[in-house]
Amino acid sequence: MSKNETPRDPNEVLEEYEETLDSVLAEVESPDETTEDDDLSLGLPGLSLGRRDFMKAGVAAGAMGSVAGCSALTGGGGSAGSQSTPSGSGASHTVEPGEHDEYYGFWSGGHSGELRVVGIPSMRELTRIPVFNTDCASGYGYTDGTQEMLEEGGGYSWGDNHHPNLSETDGDYDGEYLYVNDKANGRIARVNLTYFETDAITDVPNMQAIHGCTVLSPDTKYVLGNGEFRVPLPNDGTDVKNPDNYTSLFVAVDPESMETQWQVKVDGNLDIVDTGKEGRWAISSAYNSEEATDIQGMTKDDRDNVKAFDIPAIEQAVENGNYEEVNGIPVVDGTQDSPLNKGDRPIVKYIPTPKSPHCVEVGPNGDYAFIAGKLSPTVTMLDLDALADSSDPEEVVAGRPRVGLGPLHTTFDGNGHAYTSLFIDSQAVKWDIEAAVEAEEGSEDPIIEKQDVHYNPGHIQALEAMTTDPDGEWLVSLNKLSKDRFLPVGPIMPDNDQLIHIGQGEEEMELVADHPAYPEPHDCVFAHKDKIDAKKVYDKDDYEETYITEEDSGVERTGESSVHVKMTTKRSEYGLPDFTVQEGDEVTLTTTNIEGVQDIIHGVAIPEHDINYAVAPQDTREVTFTADDPGVYWIYCTFFCSALHLEMRSRMIVEPAEG
Ligand code: CUA
Repeated sequence: MSKNETPRDPNEVLEEYEETLDSVLAEVESPDETTEDDDLSLGLPGLSLGRRDFMKAGVAAGAMGSVAGCSALTGGGGSAGSQSTPSGSGASHTVEPGEHDEYYGFWSGGHSGELRVVGIPSMRELTRIPVFNTDCASGYGYTDGTQEMLEEGGGYSWGDNHHPNLSETDGDYDGEYLYVNDKANGRIARVNLTYFETDAITDVPNMQAIHGCTVLSPDTKYVLGNGEFRVPLPNDGTDVKNPDNYTSLFVAVDPESMETQWQVKVDGNLDIVDTGKEGRWAISSAYNSEEATDIQGMTKDDRDNVKAFDIPAIEQAVENGNYEEVNGIPVVDGTQDSPLNKGDRPIVKYIPTPKSPHCVEVGPNGDYAFIAGKLSPTVTMLDLDALADSSDPEEVVAGRPRVGLGPLHTTFDGNGHAYTSLFIDSQAVKWDIEAAVEAEEGSEDPIIEKQDVHYNPGHIQALEAMTTDPDGEWLVSLNKLSKDRFLPVGPIMPDNDQLIHIGQGEEEMELVADHPAYPEPHDCVFAHKDKIDAKKVYDKDDYEETYITEEDSGVERTGESSVHVKMTTKRSEYGLPDFTVQEGDEVTLTTTNIEGVQDIIHGVAIPEHDINYAVAPQDTREVTFTADDPGVYWIYCTFFCSALHLEMRSRMIVEPAEG
């Protein structure tokens, strides 16, 4: 600073900084409006722009081990795979700083109750979406709207989500919604992909443990769920001691209203479900045809019955009134002895497959359903075209390759290959679908190669494998155990989601990265980034809360012991520097973030009232609480929003009640 220059007013400096930030953010929002010569990055990291053309298609695979290495159940270490690919060895999953991933990955979070959004191929975690849990960073479960939704959705504080499904139009992802099950409490939730937030939770009556969950292809006519645990119908305390009378249900939920439409009663336990591509068949794997209540009994028989639900036939039965109403829901009898299964068009076909089969996935062109044997080393392929006319269940079996020990799930590259996870062998096995149709049952000939994974994989997913047009290139093996793969972090270890390069199926599989995952994802689904259109700022037309302006900020007494406090948020102040309520008041606090600039979030934390929530640009959130204890409470901003973030405060004064 030269002698003649006067020290600058700090407020002026801050203002200038804010202006600069605004222009940089504006440029990020509308990159097309600036020219290449515009230098707006100002050295702020992470804000530089550029075309994101980094798809590593057709990269030659490295020479990493392929066929049938030893299965590494004991986790001795030292086998194939490292934290990242050494340079020059083949496929790279590196996404350079400032670049974007090519795909969204949506991960179920299991009993954490949340979903996680992961970029592919970098495997970077982008965000988490609370669903069945509460989340103190966003305020999900704390604000009035989200608290109400969780309350009306059963009032549980946790859930166990397993199977995320993207809504489809014409068999392809339309980017509208994601649906996910809660195995624990028999629920299905919907996540709005405009804002990446849960907007509906349905507590399905009559069912315990909705495990399998899928949408009916090709146009998301229903969200379908499998009830895994057999319970009395209704489960109201009558007939609790006679497991023979327990039942599993299959449910259809309307994707728009999220209301339960109908249920189908079946024999045995339902497991995973997927649908054909034409809207007719839903195929459910199942176990415990024995209908036993202990593990010895459940695994006694050699075969279990996969169920093929004929959706239009079920709809017809409901329309004809062939149902019993239980807790307000039409329940159609789809058990083996049901009259509805005796005529020309049974509503449920029972297809015996070996042995306690776990998954079912329908291949991309809808020809076959792939049912992995779990306790059988085979995958049974069902011919969906033959299903309608065949009366002999064996006739619909198109192939049954022997793939290895503990097959659980199968995924596809769209070029004629199936990839099956082998839980016991700790491997991913790649095999040729048509070769399996040609081969004898139990043949290993269709196997192309095996890749060791670490360790004990459950689900396995390749890019867009659940659409009619899979993208190949990358596959993720969701391994249940990580054992020696990461620094020890105490006895509860992360899972290990491993990224495997598969190319278009013409190359050898190559293990590219380990990715620790907090317990416990089950499944994931991938969508190309162009199919998702996430908004960066709220549109006030999209929510019901009343938008608060700076003029609206104030306190309004709404009753003898209730007040409504309205308050804006912006950098770096709340609309009210302080406000006063009376001891015992029920306080409804409505806050609007009046900024229109992306990524400027404000938090509202109220000490000693168990409240914190986020308000994103143009969003309005509301909380209701009781001001029980007189005193002073400094409301502060929990998101680092500006240089004066620390000073962003309001003061709630709770006056003692008189007398
Ligand atoms: Cu607003 Cu920090």
